[in-house]
Amino acid sequence: MTITTAQILDGKALAHRLRKEIGTEVAELTQKHGRAPGLAVILVGDDPASHVYVRNKKIGCENVGFASFSYELPADTSQQHLLGLISELNRDPKVDGILVQLPVPAHINSETILEAIDPGKDVDGFHPYNIGRLTARKPALRSCTPYGCMKLLEETGLDLHGMESVIVGASNIVGRPMALELLLAGATVTVCHRFTKNLQAHIERADIVIAAAGKQGLIQGEWIKPGAVVIDVGIHRRADGTLTGDVAFESASKRAGWITPVPGGVGPMTITMLLANTVQAFKNHIGESDD
Ligand code: GUN
Repeated sequence: MTITTAQILDGKALAHRLRKEIGTEVAELTQKHGRAPGLAVILVGDDPASHVYVRNKKIGCENVGFASFSYELPADTSQQHLLGLISELNRDPKVDGILVQLPVPAHINSETILEAIDPGKDVDGFHPYNIGRLTARKPALRSCTPYGCMKLLEETGLDLHGMESVIVGASNIVGRPMALELLLAGATVTVCHRFTKNLQAHIERADIVIAAAGKQGLIQGEWIKPGAVVIDVGIHRRADGTLTGDVAFESASKRAGWITPVPGGVGPMTITMLLANTVQAFKNHIGESDD
């Protein structure tokens, strides 16, 4: 086999470009409507990774000119208290988007919480209404990570119609909405998960691989079909402190046509799409939507 070197799908650069465009649009909207889009971020408990994510979301908001409202609640916050806060934010006209950082502590039912958010303010795109809209081919607010992966796929310039796509991982927040996004784009979709019998055989015939299993190095480079597009949603910290994904990057990049790095691939795109969704929600609220 001839050894090729994959083109890097640079999520950091794409995110930078999109955030610049969002910032320009936010400045215009704020001038025109007398208020900036507002995003409320709720964090319950002390999960260190969640604190980092929430801080990055807050910085992202401020950099594009949003009003950001932050609620850091103790780990023993009751479900009822959290539902009360969501209900207040649902009614608050300054708040266009509401995000509850997951995971929530075990005594709180995450489904009950996600379903309590007004679907028009569900900028994570997790509410069953928004998942249903995507299922029915009429996306409203789209789940941020799959939406970011679609933007990265767009960068390849490939026509996705009829492409064999294989998603590894069937979670509610990545794998499942990703399958719906790819189906909407005309790809043939396979979703692999913990009960899948021969993962390697699925990967070997994939034109597009979306790795979202949450298992470091699960996907071996030798499995990748030459020229395939590889999008790695996984993020893991090695013992030496560096970050890596679900795909063995070194070997995969010798076979793939395009590949996302970790870090600097999908990660920066997730927050970017959260910002895009918040602008969309703002425009819907003030009646300036393109839909
Ligand atoms: N936890 C891990 N990823 C996400 C995400 O995209 N949104 C929220 N709210 N929580 C998460």
